[in-house]
Amino acid sequence: MAGPGRRARQRVRRLLRAGRHRGAQAVALLALTAPAPAGAVELGAAINDAGFDHGGAQYRDTFAAHYDAATAESAMKMTALQPSRGTFEFGHADAIVDWARAEGKQVHGHVLVWCADEWSPGWLTGRSWTREELLEVMEDHIRTVMDHFEGRVETWDVVNEALADDGSRRDCVWQRHIGDDWVAQAFRFARAADPRARLFYNEYRADWPNPKFDALLALVAGLDLDGVGLQHHTYGFAPLQEEVEDAIARVAALGLRVHVSELNVTTSQIGGDLARQAQAYWTIAAACAAQPACFRVTTWGFTDRYGWRPPSELAMPFDVDYRPKPAWEALRRGLGRETGPLLAAPGPPAVAGDRIAWPPVEGARYALQHRDARGTWRTLASGIPVPELTLFEREGTWEYRVRAEDGPWSQPSAPAKVDRTPPGAPTVPAGWLRAPASVQLLAGDPPLPDGSPGSGVEPPPPQLFTASGVLRGSVRDRAGNVSPEGGGEVRVDGAPPAAALTCPRRVVRGGGAVGRWTASDVESGLAGPASGTVPLTGRRAEVTVRDVAGHVATARCAFAVVAPLRLYTRSALLRDGAVRLRVGCRLARCRSVLTLRRGARTVGRSRAVTVRGARTVGVPTRARGRLVVTAGRDRLGVVQTRRSMIQRDVASRRSIG
Ligand code: XIL
Repeated sequence: MAGPGRRARQRVRRLLRAGRHRGAQAVALLALTAPAPAGAVELGAAINDAGFDHGGAQYRDTFAAHYDAATAESAMKMTALQPSRGTFEFGHADAIVDWARAEGKQVHGHVLVWCADEWSPGWLTGRSWTREELLEVMEDHIRTVMDHFEGRVETWDVVNEALADDGSRRDCVWQRHIGDDWVAQAFRFARAADPRARLFYNEYRADWPNPKFDALLALVAGLDLDGVGLQHHTYGFAPLQEEVEDAIARVAALGLRVHVSELNVTTSQIGGDLARQAQAYWTIAAACAAQPACFRVTTWGFTDRYGWRPPSELAMPFDVDYRPKPAWEALRRGLGRETGPLLAAPGPPAVAGDRIAWPPVEGARYALQHRDARGTWRTLASGIPVPELTLFEREGTWEYRVRAEDGPWSQPSAPAKVDRTPPGAPTVPAGWLRAPASVQLLAGDPPLPDGSPGSGVEPPPPQLFTASGVLRGSVRDRAGNVSPEGGGEVRVDGAPPAAALTCPRRVVRGGGAVGRWTASDVESGLAGPASGTVPLTGRRAEVTVRDVAGHVATARCAFAVVAPLRLYTRSALLRDGAVRLRVGCRLARCRSVLTLRRGARTVGRSRAVTVRGARTVGVPTRARGRLVVTAGRDRLGVVQTRRSMIQRDVASRRSIG
């Protein structure tokens, strides 16, 4: 049997003979029809009943020339194959399947069990069933259909659309009368009917991470199947390419293959902009090509003339006259089946709000990537027809880069921060402040999901407090996000502490005398003890106390300092070369040397003596008259010395004695 490439060339020659394509166009068509290189992503299309029946050679040849695989859009559904219970009609489906196989195409069976009452036969939905009865109907349908197509249909959508958009189970006859396990039962029946077939679960609006996609993952994780079909019915705008890739990668992580199973892009949402439509096709095809588990992209039809969406939606890669639209080349470029000249790198993008723009490269289409603070470049879109893209970016600190066709990437843009997270509810400074206090609400701006800092809180206007009060309000970050209201009691201490220091009027130096202080503070309270002592050295003492708010108060006192020794003797007899001085100690014990001075001269010095209470100390000297008595650096007083005549007389008498 002729290989796909040779059959494609035969087709082109037939088209040429029919005069439907001019020479150059035919050559281009020939170039376009090269089959998928081994290991590349296959390209499939849904075969529409009316197109197959009434579209003639142009319909069939256009498909056969460009696609690798066929899915019957409706001919293999239960309504068509078992229009009444127990009556199976395979004629139309066989015609499509056998034609597609004759053209060397693979065939994907769609769909054995569809949870859509509006698309199910009336005999099924128009009555009630016991669980056992309906399981028997399900098993009988699956086994009969798969037996019939065994060996001709390699892959099957066993179950279609069992989930509601919120991820819960969708209501339909199977769910109502069998229960949740109807899906697993269908795969069990299918696996038994044709062990060689590869079995798929097929779903719509689960094409990127969202609650329905999460439910799909949970559902298929418990099934005996080989892959998942993500339909990708697209309404003007493609999801971000990185998110399409993430969904495929997460299905692949379950060991499953992925089929982009029903791709179309309506254009009423984008004003019929075919270049923008091409971007959506390019983006989704490129996402599949970037993920090894994705083995096929099937468009849900291929010409606007026949298909699910009305021709006015222009949803297909070929127009009503089978002419390729920009979407067709975009689809092929996205799959890597076609590459253009390596164009120069554009200049780096510039970001303004949610619009990213870059310098144009003549005639190019662009791919745009972004990375957040975590640093991995991910693709946002491919095949962008104009040098700009508007997107609702996720939070983070982002850089962008762009390339023309398959050329080199531009330099990254300057970082742009997307911050939609408001600061936390503000608080007021904790603790006591000292009046007058300029107070601001305090708030933190949470980090962004990629770990980068938020845009930061705009410092709110300060408010002056001379006493405690309440400060409430909200703050805003530099991205304009407003925090919840917050604030609270601002505690402001308007007065310093009171302090008092009591000292004795007179203090004996070295006696360890202390002053006693007390302090109090009515507002913020003392920052330390409320009383204490200070040693009294010198002639004055002070103590400084602080309150919690930081006020400082100082208490002082002055006092006289007296020497530890005191001199009782005012006048003294000079006898035997010494004077005898009566001294007293004001402390428990004094130890000192007494010195006699006349003017600046020392005229006498005792030995070191210890005095407890009072005692007489002899100080050798010959000096008479007014002498100053010192002890250490203390001046004790003045003593008047005189030589005693009597002393001499007594002395002389003794000597006579
Ligand atoms: C649609 C067909 O394209 C229509 O012609 C038919 O009238 C209804 O079904 N998801 C699916 C497909 O899995 O089977 C549906 O096909 C489109 C939505």
